[in-house]
Amino acid sequence: MSQLLDGKLVSGKLLDRLAAEISGMPQPPILAVILVGEDPASQVYVGNKKRACARVGIVSREHLLPENAGQSALLALINQLNADENVHGILCQMPLPRGFDYDEQALCRAISPAKDVDVFHPENVGKLMLGEPDLLPCTPGGVLELLDDAGIDLAGKHVVVIGRSNIVGKPMAMLALQRNATVTICHSRTKNLPSITRQADVLVAAVGRLHFVTADMVKDGAVVVDVGINRLEGRKVRGDVDFDAVAPKCSWITPVPGGVGPMTIAILMKNTLAAAKLQKEST
Ligand code: GUN
Repeated sequence: MSQLLDGKLVSGKLLDRLAAEISGMPQPPILAVILVGEDPASQVYVGNKKRACARVGIVSREHLLPENAGQSALLALINQLNADENVHGILCQMPLPRGFDYDEQALCRAISPAKDVDVFHPENVGKLMLGEPDLLPCTPGGVLELLDDAGIDLAGKHVVVIGRSNIVGKPMAMLALQRNATVTICHSRTKNLPSITRQADVLVAAVGRLHFVTADMVKDGAVVVDVGINRLEGRKVRGDVDFDAVAPKCSWITPVPGGVGPMTIAILMKNTLAAAKLQKEST
């Protein structure tokens, strides 16, 4: 039977460490959170981020824009926050509303690299590729923290990542490679996916499809990390992994909820503190 990679527990330990450090600072870090439109799921995520800020002593400032605000209003707000010395971190909750006409690349470049706590700016993505990041992207960074807490070393392991998004799949693969794993990235055009996932010592599912990973896709004793957040009716969420069927085969597995989700938010807090310290050092 598997052991749980408990994101609630591990994120709580990290948040406690951050709170202790922030309580000794003359001024708390400030995080600006931009939410465009009224998507209920995004409102929940932003609410969770605000609660985490309150827990560790980071000041969160919410900036709400109507869904028809337009890209120029969004960029004007970002420029204003870039110029505000009191703001240390800026994030724009994604995805933007359907129908919001914007250039994703322009948006990723708009937030100043020093305040880019999501690690979306090409300069920060480039530093990550070179193995010299200032900050780790929140979700992949959270996965590493969970694995580290359980003493799971990636060196020499075969890590299979399902999903090639810029936010999760690609940076997750790069960080695993930097930990000396052998890495395979799979995606929607991968042929004979189960034959590849069955080779994984560590399987990371970031597909966005409910219960996509079934027991026949997992090797006995594998570590399974579920990044999926799929909403059922009401407020229930479930992952990309069919947990009940897969868990008995694993050595370690993350639950959903309570696995990677809380880790993502904890790393956002860690990044906001780190960004504030780096900005202080550079003045
Ligand atoms: N939407 C889903 N995940 C994320 C994230 O990590 N950052 C931002 N800004 N939006 C998201």
